[in-house]
Amino acid sequence: MTHPYSPYLAEILLDSETVQTRVQELGAQITESYQDARNLLLVCILKGGVMFLTDLMRHVDVPHSIDFMAVSSYGAGARRSTGHVRIVMDLERDISGRDVLLVEDIIDSGHTLSYIIGQLKARNPHSLRICSLLSKPSRREVDIAIDFLGFEIPDKFVFGYGLDLDEKFRNLPFIGVVDLAALDGKN
Ligand code: IMP
Ligand code: MG
Repeated sequence: MTHPYSPYLAEILLDSETVQTRVQELGAQITESYQDARNLLLVCILKGGVMFLTDLMRHVDVPHSIDFMAVSSYGAGARRSTGHVRIVMDLERDISGRDVLLVEDIIDSGHTLSYIIGQLKARNPHSLRICSLLSKPSRREVDIAIDFLGFEIPDKFVFGYGLDLDEKFRNLPFIGVVDLAALDGKN
């Protein structure tokens, strides 16, 4: 069967069931780690982290609240982040004294998260930890300690499950590899 995304899909890297099983495991790990947390806050990095957050929080069985932050890289539209990051939408509330868990879709070069970590640490949270669904270790330029990681993946451009292909297809329940040749042929 063909779908609007079919021409751009080279292969399914992680099917829906694989993703859901892992998200459930991560939720259990987080639940265990934050038994003594009093004011846990999950911070979702928009927009890519949104589907991951909403699935993950169903499996986080300790009381918590959620907040959102959006950042952009200069030269948006490029498929690689540049290292020049800025906050385009900030958190609603102060995080000082709170246990904060950042929820991100993917860590690639590490520049985006490194910037966010620097900004949030300066606000004096009680703790700041990282949960990322995906990581491409071979692309790392800045070291990031990931406390909860879904999957390590190869250096391929992926989409679905929150991740976009030119702002589309974030709704797909699986993670697919982009057929870059098909995409470039279209543009
Ligand atoms: P970094 O700053 O290089 O670590 O890039 C992180 C951000 O780039 C992620 O939050 C994504 O928004 C985006 N990104 C990196 N790799 C991919 C990919 O394969 N597909 C879609 N977005 C990606
Ligand atoms: Mg992102």
